[in-house]
Amino acid sequence: MYNPPSDAAHRRHIASAYDEPGTGQEIDRRTFMANATLAIGGIVGLVLAIPIIGSLVPTGGAGEGTWAALDPKEWSQLQTATDKPVRLNFSVKYKDAYLPEGTLDEFVWGIKTSEVKMRKARPELFSQTRAGVPYPAVVMGFTVFSPICPHLGCRYSWNSDMNKFACPCHGSTYNFEGVHEAGPAPRGLDPLPLRERSGKAEVTWIRYDKATPDRVVISYAS
Ligand code: FES
Repeated sequence: MYNPPSDAAHRRHIASAYDEPGTGQEIDRRTFMANATLAIGGIVGLVLAIPIIGSLVPTGGAGEGTWAALDPKEWSQLQTATDKPVRLNFSVKYKDAYLPEGTLDEFVWGIKTSEVKMRKARPELFSQTRAGVPYPAVVMGFTVFSPICPHLGCRYSWNSDMNKFACPCHGSTYNFEGVHEAGPAPRGLDPLPLRERSGKAEVTWIRYDKATPDRVVISYAS
């Protein structure tokens, strides 16, 4: 008479079918397949991760970006200007992890000033804190500001009636030297690196993080 196996014996039987070690060849094949799966998974993960990480990490320290020439006519205007900022246009090359290299039309706001004046008005820019910039904030008697509002990134402009820079989004205002005067912005305007080469003024485009009192480089492309 047939006696069915107990539950425990049945479970032992099922388990042993999977636990069967197999021959040496089978073990080698299984080990090879497991290792190959892990290796392929790792390579796929790496291929996906490199562009993502590349797009998040700044491409270098401040001042290491590409120099772009400012419009010569507008630069001459700034040299003769006194108490009015001048908008200076330029084209900047950018690179994205997913897109081919391209050119972007950008602008900065330039003011005629001096290091003495700026040190007095904007001491934080010359400090060793995270609110400072690791390049001269005044070059050849000029400062150029990023046109991006440090609050949430809108473009501000010079308001002649108010005699201030004013942001249309949430009402932040800044004086001629870029000192934050009103509104929700957490810091003053961001100066960008400026230099002169062969009679041409050049600027480096840097995008700083928004909504923080610190100047944290996010990227060199817009
Ligand atoms: S983005 Fe300029 S005040 Fe908010």
